[in-house]
Amino acid sequence: MLKLVVLLSGRGSNFQAIFESINTQNLPVSIELVLSDNPQAGGLHYAQKRGIETAAISPKDYDNQGEFNKAVLQRVQQTDANWAVLAGYMRLVNADFIAHFDGQVLNIHPSLLPKYKGLNTHQRALDAGDKTHGASVHLVTEKLDDGPIIIQSNIEISDEDSADTLAARLLQTEHSIYPQTIKWLSSGDLRYSNQQLYFNNKPLNSPISWQQLGQ
Ligand code: GRF
Repeated sequence: MLKLVVLLSGRGSNFQAIFESINTQNLPVSIELVLSDNPQAGGLHYAQKRGIETAAISPKDYDNQGEFNKAVLQRVQQTDANWAVLAGYMRLVNADFIAHFDGQVLNIHPSLLPKYKGLNTHQRALDAGDKTHGASVHLVTEKLDDGPIIIQSNIEISDEDSADTLAARLLQTEHSIYPQTIKWLSSGDLRYSNQQLYFNNKPLNSPISWQQLGQ
């Protein structure tokens, strides 16, 4: 059974999309804990209202990043979650966190990785004159927005687009590819074993294209 810890820092719309897809499709997935570094995060309140266990751990309450990371890991270790899902979590998780999950940590990033790691991805795609933009679900390593990519969505960039219109359109696709990834994990179509991803029992060495799935 897939047991998730979700980490988020803000509104949590990706978490909501995942939660709704688990419920409407009756997936064998439990959300053991939603943890935020921001006590005001909208996603935390959404989870509380639905009776999901939550934790707010603010870096302000710790002397340094190392102590904060320890507190996060200690809280996560109190659950028996087997995958961690970063959904708009604006911090890096450290090696101990990743090791606790045997590498089973997911993130969603609003760019066609390896392009545009970090912030302001929509504006950077516009500034570069890109014709397409996208989002990536990937396994997390200690490096920012790194790690093997599982699935990517694509959208076309038009002359009228701004960073805001791109962000809004892309977010809709994020709400498909992240729940889809969770669904594949729950069915076993997607597996991670001995540091290798498998999709339909074949090694997954390049990203699945959401469009090619007929979306
Ligand atoms: C999303 O764009 C996600 O790709 C990025 O942060 C944003 C989080 O949005 N990592 P939300 O909190 O899930 O609404």
